[in-house]
Amino acid sequence: MNDIKGKIAIVTGAGRGIGFAAVKSFLDEGMKVLATSRHTSALEALDNDNLLVVPADLTDIESFEKIVSACICRFGSLDVIINNAAYAKKELLTDTTASVFDLHMAVNVRAPMLLVNEAMPHLLKSTHATVINICSVLSEKGYEMQGAYTASKHALLGYTKVLARETFKQGIRVHAVLPGGVGTEMIQEMRPDLDLAELSAPQEIVDIMLFFLKNRNHAVIDQISVRRYTKDPWA
Ligand SMILES: NC(=O)c1ccc[n+]([C@@H]2O[C@H](COP(=O)([O-])OP(=O)(O)OC[C@H]3O[C@@H](n4cnc5c(N)ncnc54)[C@H](OP(=O)(O)O)[C@@H]3O)[C@@H](O)[C@H]2O)c1
Repeated sequence: MNDIKGKIAIVTGAGRGIGFAAVKSFLDEGMKVLATSRHTSALEALDNDNLLVVPADLTDIESFEKIVSACICRFGSLDVIINNAAYAKKELLTDTTASVFDLHMAVNVRAPMLLVNEAMPHLLKSTHATVINICSVLSEKGYEMQGAYTASKHALLGYTKVLARETFKQGIRVHAVLPGGVGTEMIQEMRPDLDLAELSAPQEIVDIMLFFLKNRNHAVIDQISVRRYTKDPWA
């Protein structure tokens, strides 16, 4: 197991849900964290010297330089990027407008790429450079009423595969996590039919991120798919 104490991470979508759980866990592990979201009150309440909160809207292409330079200014370097933020709207594909489709692609695919591109000079200097992209089971499947979100998550997985191939010889580890239902605001909006008690907890997804970060050895896991325990295996 690798020591991740003192490693420096940027976590997007950090204001609630899986991202917020990741920030708390990373701080507990002794990591330094730049946490970004549009709404940051929960993060600011954490009041931790190893935490830098940077409010940003990831649809704004100016945000990425602002986030990375704030991280370097405060912590001096950068080891880990967790691309976790996402937008999801429940509607039929045939009702989906260009602006709603573009919003999914901007937050869920373009933002991870632009953040990594901005961070690349710093990741190349790290001995622990890691990018973890939070994809979805919908990176491989298609569920009705989630068309634009599904298209964006397929695109994010495709982006992840190419990024991994283009950077692994430079020592950068790139991983995809494909969660099924996780008990957050997003699933309550998208799948109100699911029983919250049966869903994965945000911390269970964070534990997978920690596994990737702590097990940086010769055996590399590219992707982990997760289902809630009541869902059919490999369904
Ligand atoms: N929950 C599930 O069942 C599930 C399943 C599969 C995959 N996932 C994935 O897991 C990740 C985390 O999801 P979650 O369930 O924790 O969702 P969530 O509770 O809805 O959190 C989404 C986060 O994304 C941020 N975000 C959305 N639009 C943004 C924008 N324009 N600029 C900056 N930040 C933005 C939100 O922050 P602000 O609103 O403050 O900006 C929020 O912090 C996502 O990638 C999601 O697709 C979730």
